[in-house]
Amino acid sequence: MLASQYLYGVVRRPLVRIILLCLFIVFLFTARLPHTDSSRFFDLAPPQDRLLPIPHRPMGSPRHRIKVQRPLADPMAANDGPWAERADAVRGAFLHAYQGYLTHAAPHDELKPISKLPVDNMNGWGLSIVDSLDTMWLMGLYDEFDAGLAVVANVTFTMSPDKYAPFFETVIRYLGGLLSAYALSQDPILLARADDLGTALLPAFHTSSGLPMYAVNTVNGHVNKGWSGDASGLAESLTCQLEYKYLAYLTGRKVYYDAVERVMDIMYEANVTSTGELFPLLWSVKDGAPLGRLVSAGPNGDSAYEYMLKQWLLTGRTDTKARDLYIRSVDAILDHLTYLTPNRSLLYVTDATVDSHGTFLPSHKLEHLTCFLPATLALGAATLRDVPQRHMWAARAFAHTCWVLYADSPSGLAPDVVLMRSSHGATPSPFGAPWVAHLKQWEQSGSQGDPPGVRSPESVRDTDTAPEYTLTGMNYLLRPETVESFYLLWRITGDVMWRERGWEVFEALEREARVEGGGYASVNNVHLVGGPKKDEMPSWFLAETLKYLFLLFTDEDLVPLDRWVFNTEAHPLPVFHWSVWEMERLGITLGIKPEEDTP
Ligand SMILES: *[C@@H]1O[C@H](CO)[C@@H](O)[C@H](O)[C@H]1NC(C)=O
Ligand SMILES: *[C@@H]1O[C@H](CO)[C@@H](O)[C@H](O)[C@H]1NC(C)=O
Ligand SMILES: *[C@@H]1O[C@H](CO)[C@@H](O)[C@H](O)[C@H]1NC(C)=O
Repeated sequence: MLASQYLYGVVRRPLVRIILLCLFIVFLFTARLPHTDSSRFFDLAPPQDRLLPIPHRPMGSPRHRIKVQRPLADPMAANDGPWAERADAVRGAFLHAYQGYLTHAAPHDELKPISKLPVDNMNGWGLSIVDSLDTMWLMGLYDEFDAGLAVVANVTFTMSPDKYAPFFETVIRYLGGLLSAYALSQDPILLARADDLGTALLPAFHTSSGLPMYAVNTVNGHVNKGWSGDASGLAESLTCQLEYKYLAYLTGRKVYYDAVERVMDIMYEANVTSTGELFPLLWSVKDGAPLGRLVSAGPNGDSAYEYMLKQWLLTGRTDTKARDLYIRSVDAILDHLTYLTPNRSLLYVTDATVDSHGTFLPSHKLEHLTCFLPATLALGAATLRDVPQRHMWAARAFAHTCWVLYADSPSGLAPDVVLMRSSHGATPSPFGAPWVAHLKQWEQSGSQGDPPGVRSPESVRDTDTAPEYTLTGMNYLLRPETVESFYLLWRITGDVMWRERGWEVFEALEREARVEGGGYASVNNVHLVGGPKKDEMPSWFLAETLKYLFLLFTDEDLVPLDRWVFNTEAHPLPVFHWSVWEMERLGITLGIKPEEDTP
């Protein structure tokens, strides 16, 4: 045996290798110590420009980050200028609200801000924490975020046998909150909990049609009826697509994709000619057929249309079938549900019953919830090729109306429901005419000036005329939809008017809704200044209202709209692309062109 072979044999023995390694380490230290102070050890660290600044943390899910490699800008950094100060004020408001919740209500669902008591009104899994995680991340409140994680890590999503989780709300708030916080922070705990919850809610889809039931017990899988009775609701059926498809993408679980795509198949195949190409609010759970003749872009319909567009955006603009459904639906909304008041030219979108002759009978009710629509319209107009200009006109005009509801009100906050009307003695109809009629007239007379309903920034405050609506819901429930639309319009048009209007809304919130000792409260009557409040602070105030206001005022584009898609609870999810093997595995064919796998 050669000496070198013998030596090699000795060195390969584990104990000898450990001893040699220790000697080597001791050598390294002793060799450096005489001529180094401790700071020299930092020479071994990568140069500063390769370190992520603190508290600046990376953004994007692990798979996403390969493509994006864009760290989250530090929201604390640009701390000068009037808008940065306003963003800071919103961060302060968030802390006032959230610390009130932490002190008096955590880990229950929500804070009752007046009585300073906790309430478990949605499954009792710490709703306000889960719904707020991504807001805290975007605001740079990492200590609060980390404390929230500790609570989330404990959640088991269980409930007693006689209780039910409302499917729609649980998906958009809890599942959307977990997925978004995961995408931003990449903390695997969040994905694990999202996967648990996604599975626990799946029995909602165990109906003969595959459309989800209103509510489900997460332990025994029993389902229950809600507002839609035996039927399935339109918004319930579609407003789970983004969450479950992103979850399928992250986990590779086909069962998630199959459950929600079956719902889309029903929608693609449905014959809705009798309701003017709009989807009725009710669907048969038995056979998936459309039921009834009530159509709405507001409550119970709203986010169904939003999620048609956003499925296309979330999949890197590949799901063209969902996109086409969106375009067809929006054209029908603008044709049949969109009206203009006679004097102030306020554009609004309402709901209607379609009679047996196909005539739309509008209610002329306008709900604050419907004020999300300008955001969706603007996003569609900015991203879709070849959609008519009227999508963007309607976005601007309708957002103006939503703002008018705030600006007209003595408290500066908008009522929840109004009935649009005009008492034009001379005109046969007590209501304004369909917007398309005005539009046609405008085009025929040479398209002079702004399109009907669209206001240039300078022609705003016209509160001296009669309001042209009456209040039927007097309260303001800390709702986000109007500031959501301001945020999207600001990002898309760059018109600072939307920021200014958002600031007015924030000032009114501070005046009318802020509660001593922590929290904000819904307002009973928006026509009273300093009037009584409701003992409620819904989690959407933390998840949506304050997040959109913060994003409206930060100069840095923290959530670029070409890379992120907000779910309907304002939880941003990253744009992703299905690869060829995933499409084969999940059986994805509908309208999606596969992306070539890049090495
Ligand atoms: C998590 O659960 C454990 C055991 O039930 C409990 O001791 C702990 O306080 C919980 N942590 C949080 C942050 O809720
Ligand atoms: C859809 O339903 C209408 C009646 O509501 C019918 O006239 C039409 O033929 C149907 N279309 C298809 C493709 O089945
Ligand atoms: C519309 O304007 C006319 C003329 O200015 C006025 O007489 C009428 O009362 C107004 N109608 C409403 C509903 O404001």
